[in-house]
Amino acid sequence: MYGTIRVELSSERKAKPSVDTGLAFGKYFTDHMFMMNYSEGSGWHDPRIVPYAPITLDPSAMVFHYGQAIFEGLKAYRSPDKSSVYLFRPDKNAARLNQSCERLSMPSIDEAFFVEALQSLVRIDADWIPESEGTSLYIRPFIISTEAGLGVRPSSEYLFAVIMSPVGSYYEEGIHPVAIHVETHYTRAAVGGMGYAKAAGNYAGSLKAQMLAKEYNCSQVLWLDAAEKKYLEEVGSMNVFFKLGGEIVTPKLNGSILDGVTRNSVMQLLASWGMPVTERRISMDEIAAAFANGTLEEAFGTGTAAVISPIGSLHWNDQTMSINVGQTGPLTERLYNTLTGIQNGKIEDPFGWNV
Ligand code: COI
Repeated sequence: MYGTIRVELSSERKAKPSVDTGLAFGKYFTDHMFMMNYSEGSGWHDPRIVPYAPITLDPSAMVFHYGQAIFEGLKAYRSPDKSSVYLFRPDKNAARLNQSCERLSMPSIDEAFFVEALQSLVRIDADWIPESEGTSLYIRPFIISTEAGLGVRPSSEYLFAVIMSPVGSYYEEGIHPVAIHVETHYTRAAVGGMGYAKAAGNYAGSLKAQMLAKEYNCSQVLWLDAAEKKYLEEVGSMNVFFKLGGEIVTPKLNGSILDGVTRNSVMQLLASWGMPVTERRISMDEIAAAFANGTLEEAFGTGTAAVISPIGSLHWNDQTMSINVGQTGPLTERLYNTLTGIQNGKIEDPFGWNV
């Protein structure tokens, strides 16, 4: 597609971190990385796998000034008999990468080539895939604008790169319910903005509220809509689900919410269990009313990094709402076990998600 992937193997192999250290999220990186450049005229070219190393950019490279930067995240797992390696739904990441490209005026990448690039890199660094319970190889593809110059316009040059990191559970303590601060001042994204894109800037804009949440002894923020600050959007960097009096609900994608791969997988899984998810607007007033009348049964976030993250309590203005007495609910736990079981090959994958 863009030429044969050239491979330059590293002459040195790094020592691998011990899984006993807990494999802090995104701290260790494998021996190699994938890179490919884009320039107007040549398009995407020079795909290569090279030793993991710092990259050099002109200080005026547009990414530093105007933030054309997008990324993806997905995981590779080793099968229980160790004979194969699975990527979880890489086609979904390929499609979403291109949606992000479109929103940030960046050039798209052929989706089949994207998956091939990931597969080639994973094959070369396959011995970095950790094997113990709850671990995986986190794959981080990203694109940045690299043209030198300060004019405000889409860059004419880009770098697509893929790095990989062996990870344990996203939360060091494993799956456990977290306290969430409902953010009523700062917002993550507005309709018409770039909330549906996996743009680096969305994460930069979220940090302030995340720090504030910590001051309230909460680990994450529940984001409300920018226009009315009434309706739920996302939790931290995850999509959010609630079980309210038997109905499972998640905010409807509206342009400011990321179309999560785990969100989509949870919806398909629940539908296959005869528990369809309603995608609709959900207001904080509705959540508070459900808490008051005892129908706020379960709540959880979904994302690639944490997979499923139970919500133990919501702190909204002066009110604290405990959910399922602060314990992981039965549905949340079943989803976590089934999804991670499918991902690591311990449970049969009826959906054909593993590649
Ligand atoms: C995810 O939940 O997978 C995310 O996107 C979080 C990531 C930024 C670490």
